[in-house]
Amino acid sequence: MDRVEALKQQAGIAACKFVTSGMKVGLGTGSTVKYTVIELGRRIAEEGLAIVGVPTSLATEQLANKVGVPLVELSECSHLDIVIDGADEFDSNFNLIKGGGAALVREKIVAQESHSMVVVADERKMVDVLGAFPLPIEITPFSYQATINQLSSLMNCRVNCRMSGDNPVTTDNGNYIADAHCGPTLSNPIELEIAILKIAGVVQVGLFNNMCDVVVLAKHSGVEVLTNPDGRLSD
Ligand code: A5P
Repeated sequence: MDRVEALKQQAGIAACKFVTSGMKVGLGTGSTVKYTVIELGRRIAEEGLAIVGVPTSLATEQLANKVGVPLVELSECSHLDIVIDGADEFDSNFNLIKGGGAALVREKIVAQESHSMVVVADERKMVDVLGAFPLPIEITPFSYQATINQLSSLMNCRVNCRMSGDNPVTTDNGNYIADAHCGPTLSNPIELEIAILKIAGVVQVGLFNNMCDVVVLAKHSGVEVLTNPDGRLSD
């Protein structure tokens, strides 16, 4: 296992300390939170941890089934206690870019229904200003190039339709992903989120503002737990 992969594993496992028996747990998507799902499966099998999970993607659903995390539909739950998920970037205000794995819509719905959100990340994800990672935006296939033009004009940057070979990447919801290459300039993600969501054709944007309570951050010097002072898990 290379060093970055080892950091992802450390963050993913460390975040499990926030999960206790009886909880309904949102299960995020990506290469970091996969270690959380695997660890939860281990604790269920070996320690009698009693939880149910709600997956944020078909990929996570398959992994949870494989490692023995029982799943329920979000519609069966009045709320979730916690969601644990990855991020592509986070800033000092605990605002996030997500959607590198094209799961942002389900991730945001699950985060919205959760009483708390824990992000698992390695140190490459911590930034001063969001935007070096191209901002993912889920858009409808209908007239998607017109939507991309609107986005490009709004953000004054290049916006690409994410491709897989010759075809647009299709999300679990049957939509496309536009990636906005703004560079590290998104100093007001709250206003930008509102503006992007006004464009017809936009399903959702991968800005997760005022949602994250804790970042479990794996660094080469060790794992740090960063607590949002305005969040729901601060003392
Ligand atoms: C999925 O759509 C994303 O939001 C992921 O949570 C995010 O890209 C982080 O993924 P990694 O942990 O694989 O970097």
